This record gives sequence, structure tokens and C-alpha cells, in this order.
Amino acid sequence: MLKDFIKSAAAAAAATGIAIALKNQTISAPAALARATNAVKVSAKSDKSYDNGVALTPPMGWSSWNTFRNHISEELILQIANALKVSGLQEAGYQYVNLDDCWQSSKRDENGQMVADYNTFPRGIRPLVDDINAMGLKLGIYSSNGTFTCEDLPASLGHEAVDAATFASWGIEYFKYDFCHNKPFPTSAPNIERIIISKEDGTDILTCFAAEAKLEGHARIVSDNRHPASYITGLSANIGSAAFNVSVEEDGKYILSIIIRKRGKFTKYAKVVINGSAEHEIWAAPTNAATTEGKIQVVVELKAGDNEIKFFNPYGSRMDAAASQYTKMGEELKKATKAYAEQTGTEEKPICYSICEWGLNMPWRWGKQAGNLWRTTMDIQATWPSIVSIYEQNVRLAKYAGKGGWNDPDMLEVGNGALTADENKAHFTLWCMMAAPLILGNDIRNFLDENGNVKEDNEVLKILTNKDLIAIDQDELGVQCYRHKTNIKVDVLVKPLSGGEIAVCFFNKFGEESAESININDLLDKAYCNLRRADEYKCRELWSGEEFEIQGTLSVALAPHSVKIYRIKADD
Ligand code: GLA
Repeated sequence: MLKDFIKSAAAAAAATGIAIALKNQTISAPAALARATNAVKVSAKSDKSYDNGVALTPPMGWSSWNTFRNHISEELILQIANALKVSGLQEAGYQYVNLDDCWQSSKRDENGQMVADYNTFPRGIRPLVDDINAMGLKLGIYSSNGTFTCEDLPASLGHEAVDAATFASWGIEYFKYDFCHNKPFPTSAPNIERIIISKEDGTDILTCFAAEAKLEGHARIVSDNRHPASYITGLSANIGSAAFNVSVEEDGKYILSIIIRKRGKFTKYAKVVINGSAEHEIWAAPTNAATTEGKIQVVVELKAGDNEIKFFNPYGSRMDAAASQYTKMGEELKKATKAYAEQTGTEEKPICYSICEWGLNMPWRWGKQAGNLWRTTMDIQATWPSIVSIYEQNVRLAKYAGKGGWNDPDMLEVGNGALTADENKAHFTLWCMMAAPLILGNDIRNFLDENGNVKEDNEVLKILTNKDLIAIDQDELGVQCYRHKTNIKVDVLVKPLSGGEIAVCFFNKFGEESAESININDLLDKAYCNLRRADEYKCRELWSGEEFEIQGTLSVALAPHSVKIYRIKADD
């Protein structure tokens, strides 16, 4: 039953072809002109969000990677789930238990489906999901937008539909999609000399030469003396297109043979769009061939009368290619959860979709349309310099985050490495101020004693379950903090909160004690400040619980590598 579901989902996806979403980017005027004319399910800028109904506040959970790397097993995952429950972390809001890399066997099964490691997850994933769900928790899984994962295990590029269907059928509710072994779509397109339309029995019907195509953008005809026919060039990088008009007598399937001029060391790619909708892809290999004429064949549906066959390469850059590949997987996940619910008569379990391409292709510019969260940096380490560097990159991206789509500065290292108590608090506070996903990366089994009871007075557990801090992260306004003030020692961050309140965080990046002050009244006209003017403001420091009132000036002294975070409201 599950296998049938997966096969039919894969077949349906193959039949509909690939949908592409381009994102907002700077392009030259001629390129923009060409793009406008090329648009086929392609919109240069869209405000449409991924909109799968989850991650309306930043997701919270635990992931296996930061501590356990490739040493994970079903037993460990169940112990972790138990620790989440017993320690109070679940009650504090952490709900996802995420398998990172190395959950899978190195071999797909005979249906092309991924399978769990036979030794470490002997029951497979579905029974584990049932156990995790029975505890009120949700299971997350991992793959890569490449030919292998970062640990060189099977990955999902080219297997999007079948993998999404597999995960949906297992009841997965969080999916992290990495970027190792990625193969970007080439931005280069083949040069086209002519096209031939034949019947399926091989009888040629007609040939159209380059000169007959309608060219747009930078597409142009080139003649060279060594060949009798000219060819079309300028179809690369979404700067030009060529459209042939082809007339046939009957509706039906035809063979489209595209005669290309072989050339060069790079793989070439183009989309073939029939009558503005049906999409096909063509690829030309890097060549050392003895002949210069190549033939690429595609089976196409044509209608009786005139048909437009259009060629172009929609990928203007690596960013286009990455955005399109991540979008594709996201669409497959949505289709798969819906289809599985329909086929089994069960409630749909949407999958929180975590894009993990490390910020290489500015995912903050297209992530909101493609998924629920997007990594903005390379991997975090459990060291102070790593945390500060990631913060520096992520804090600048405030305007891109919002309900359903979050900047992801990577999973938490609170409790790992040799971070001091102040550093752990600072790390957690910064992530909450930045409305970051709170995905724990430590061994939370350490919060329990040998009898399975929660240990008293655990500093790390207290940090991770601080309700006031979590409320800042999870505030329903869903705004990432803005950096109000910065100097070499201290940053001042402001996060508007629902109910007309704000959070103000003083962050001492410096290795020595520092002092800083602001006047609350200076914040009032800022877009990121929610507070109304008042004679007095009530302040509460969220680590110490200290409460006081101020008229305007808020001055703090800060220990090295520490924060103070205030929740502030106008005093009625
Ligand atoms: C990449 C990701 C990490 C982790 C590993 C797993 O490095 O960025 O978060 O998932 O792969 O191999």
C-alpha cells in the first residue's frame, strides 16, 4: 500500500515536469527583457510564501548532528525523546526529534525508496515515528539536495518525488535538506541548428531551420563557413529564447529531434516548452566527440494545427538553480503529504521544510517561497568565535524573516564544548532575539539521573527552558530583532513584541567588562519599536527577574561575553 502510494506519486511528478520559481535578483535590462518574454511558470519576484501551515513561530526541537554525528540509533532517539519529555523540554515547546545525517542505509531498495540503516534502525522509520508520536512528539528526517548526503549516503536530487512520498508515508513532520554533492543546473544552453518532427514510427514530418525561429532577448543566428546550416546561440542564462512554430495534422505524440552544435567542456541545459505549458528538459554533455552535430530526442504532445516549441535556459545564475531545486523538493513535500492523507483517509501531516544550503545562494531572498526556514551560514561549532561569527551574519537579515519563514543561524550549541554559563546564556538569548529556530544540539539525556529522574539545578537545562526567553523567540508578531546600535564591544538589539511591548538586548561581544546605555525615547520612532510613548517604562531583566521602572535611560554593566535582556512596556 505504501509502496503503491510512493510509485504513483513519483509517476505523477514525472508526468507534470518541473515547476520553477525564480526569485528577486538584480539583472541587466536586456536580460530582464528576455526574462519577461521567457516566463513559463517563472516569476522573477513573487511574494507568495511556502504556506504549508506550520512554523508560524520558529520551530523548536532537538537534532542528532551537533553531538552524535554518525553514531545514531533508534535506541538513542527513543532515549532522547524520553529525556525531552521527562526534563520539561517538551512542555517548554521543543517538539521535533530530528534525525540528521546517517539514519539511512547506503542502498535504496528495489523500488528506489530510501531505507533506514539496517543495523541501527532495524525496525525502519515508520514504527519509530509511531513511538515518537505516541509521546506527543514529531519525528524529523534529513537528506541532501545532491547526489549524496554530506556523509556520502543516498540523497534526494533527482529522487524528489519518491523521497517526499516515502517521508510522508512514514509520518515525518520535519525535513532538513542539505546541500552536499549538489549538482547545479547549468546556466549554459546548447546551440540549436534545426528541429525535426517525426511520427513515433520514425517517419519525418517536417524540419524547421534556425532562420525560421522567432528569437527574443539575446538569441541570435550564427553562420560559420564549415557548416551548411546556421545555428541559434544566446539561449544561455535566461537572456534569450527561440520559438519554432510547428504545424501538424493530428493531436498526438511526436518525436522532437533537436539538432545541436556540439561544443565545449561544460554540460549544457535548456527547457523545451510546448504551447506555453508542457515542459521538458534537454541536456548536452561536455564534448570531445569526433562529430560536431548532436541529436537530442524528446517525446512531445502536439495538437492539430499550429504549435509553439520554445527553447531557453531559465537559470541566470547558481542562485536560480539552487532556488529551483529547493523549490522543487518543497512542492513535492506538500504534494506528498496531501496525497498520502487523501489515499489513507487520515489527517494531513504537513512537513516543516528546513532548507540547509548554508547561505551560499542568498536563500533569505527566495527561502520564504521555497520553505519554512533556511540556513544563513556554514556550520556552527561549540566555540565562542563560531557563535559570534554566525550571529554577525544572521543579525543583518532581519527583514527577510517572518511567520512561516525564518532565518536559520544553525542549531544550538548550548551545553556543548567549553562554553561558559554566560556564553551559553548569550548564545541562547541571541537566537531568541533573532527569532531563530531553537533546535537543541546537546545530549539532553544528561539532564536525567541514573533513575531516569530530572537532576536538580542543572544550569544548561534552566537556560533551555527559560520560559521568558522562549516567549521572546516564539512571540506571535514573528519579527527578528534589529540591531539598534553597535560598536566594537557592545551591540544593542531591539525586537518588537505583540501587545505593544519590546525586548531590548545588550550583548557584550568583548572579552572584558563593558557598559552601555540607551534612551528608550530614542527608539520610539523606529520601525522596529512597538512601544508607545509614556512617562515611565516598566522593565524586567529576563535572566535575573529583576524589575524596575525607567523614564528613558537604560544603563547596563555587562560581564565578558554576556547579555542582559529586558522586556519593556509602557507603564499605565
Ligand atoms: C552539513 C550540515 C550540518 C549537518 C551535516 C551532516 O554540514 O550543514 O548541519 O547536517 O551536513 O552531514
